[in-house]
Amino acid sequence: MEQFDRVVILDFGSQYTQLIARRVREAGVFSEIYPCTIAPEELKALDPKAVILSGGPASVLDADSPGLERSLLDLGVPVLGICYGMQLLSHSLGGKVTRAKDREYGRADLELIAPSVLLDGLRSSHSHKVWMSHGDHVETAPEGFTVIARTPSVPIAAMACDEKRIYALQFHPEVAHTDDGEIILHNFLFKIANVKPGWTMASFVESTVADLREKIGDARVICGLSGGIDSTVVALLLHKAIGKQLTCIFVDNGLLRMNEREEVIGYLERHFDLNLVTVDAAERFLSLLAGVEDPEKKRKTIGYTFIEVFDEEAAKITDVKYLAQGTLYPDVIESVSFKGGPSAVIKSHHNVGGLPEKMNLSLVEPLRELFKDEVRKVAMELGLPDYIIWRHPFPGPGLAIRVIGEITTERLEILRQADRIVQQELLATDWYRKVWQGFAVLLPLKTVGVMGDDRTYEHVIALRIVDSIDAMTADWTRLPTEILARISNRIINEVKGVNRVVLDISSKPPSTIEWE
Ligand code: XMP
Repeated sequence: MEQFDRVVILDFGSQYTQLIARRVREAGVFSEIYPCTIAPEELKALDPKAVILSGGPASVLDADSPGLERSLLDLGVPVLGICYGMQLLSHSLGGKVTRAKDREYGRADLELIAPSVLLDGLRSSHSHKVWMSHGDHVETAPEGFTVIARTPSVPIAAMACDEKRIYALQFHPEVAHTDDGEIILHNFLFKIANVKPGWTMASFVESTVADLREKIGDARVICGLSGGIDSTVVALLLHKAIGKQLTCIFVDNGLLRMNEREEVIGYLERHFDLNLVTVDAAERFLSLLAGVEDPEKKRKTIGYTFIEVFDEEAAKITDVKYLAQGTLYPDVIESVSFKGGPSAVIKSHHNVGGLPEKMNLSLVEPLRELFKDEVRKVAMELGLPDYIIWRHPFPGPGLAIRVIGEITTERLEILRQADRIVQQELLATDWYRKVWQGFAVLLPLKTVGVMGDDRTYEHVIALRIVDSIDAMTADWTRLPTEILARISNRIINEVKGVNRVVLDISSKPPSTIEWE
């Protein structure tokens, strides 16, 4: 495999650590995140071309805060400290850090006050919006450092020591709200550290496949295929790595969208020689859900039954050692401390949480560091067709949490037909790709209408169409009214049992994307 220059990001627990990694990847540079507690020899053995210290929630003034290994600075590679990383550099090198009364959070105006390669390309005459999220700040820079920028409330917002190639920023260049953050990171990578770019999603596929092969050896792996892009990409990466040592299990729970099973599973069956077990469990799920209206009870019943079914199927395969999952970075909540850093808090996966312990399996999560749009790039690299790559996310509990109230075959069918129309109308324009998710929800009420000369008393469909980057926050899409009108007309005319369509215009927070 081609060798790439490596940039190491040391994680001090910032919610933005993964975003730094992502920006470095976007610059075409191979990066890896390690906990700030990494042993000095291990770090040295990685032979990094540059090291970035992330932000973090601690205060360097507290006794038990994560420290800086002096040997890091002896590596002789360029170092960039961001936020906590800056305070730590300053504190360790003899500067003065001041404890803040309050956290400063939000935008600030950055003013350049001395020339520096790090801020090359930013116009000095003009103030730059930068994103701050910090408590403490550096009051006196260590000896040998030049203060290169300030904001109205932070006198040392950026500092540089060209001789030692150590740089530090109080603000976050990795977040989209910082103007020219990309230029600053590029300056560090290419002008200061002289890192060679060339890393791409093809490299990601290549190195992930090689890593999976090495980690798994000749063991057997099972993978739950949901029909969504994440688990499909995981299955194909594993298929490339270990071929028939992988068995994929697809559980049809009777809560899928129209044609879902055929579109994704059919595609995989036609194009890849996968060990694929399809379990028809619709009746089992629907009978357990009969009469259940409470959303949490629905979710629990589905989660529990999924585990049971999956477990039964997995038990038929001998010598399984690993369970593969399509966990993405946003699934790793609180986003702190990757790979066992100071305070890792990890959310168990919606769909198969509980399985690994129950079955005594180790997890394989090759997409754990990626964001959804990066997974789409991997899918393109793997040659998946557009209709799979751009498929909207679909929740594990499926249509059950979109049929509000009781779940019956009849009500599921109404929702399926209405949902199909939403999908078709979005796909007919480029709006399908522009929105994060668009779907129909069946409400637990009936209203009066008139059709021809007859009074009707029928179901209501709500449309939920949202924009989002990662599902953590979302806003309702301002869809052109002609498209809304077409969706509404078609649903009312074509779906028997529906006489009214309403639009959900709530943002997340305080609402959620799904209704249940
Ligand atoms: P909410 O409703 O929490 O949804 O705003 C955020 C995103 O997560 C999806 N979602 C789920 N995905 N299993 C999943 O795999 C689930 O139980 C689940 N619940 C919500 C939802 O579709 C949206 O994209």
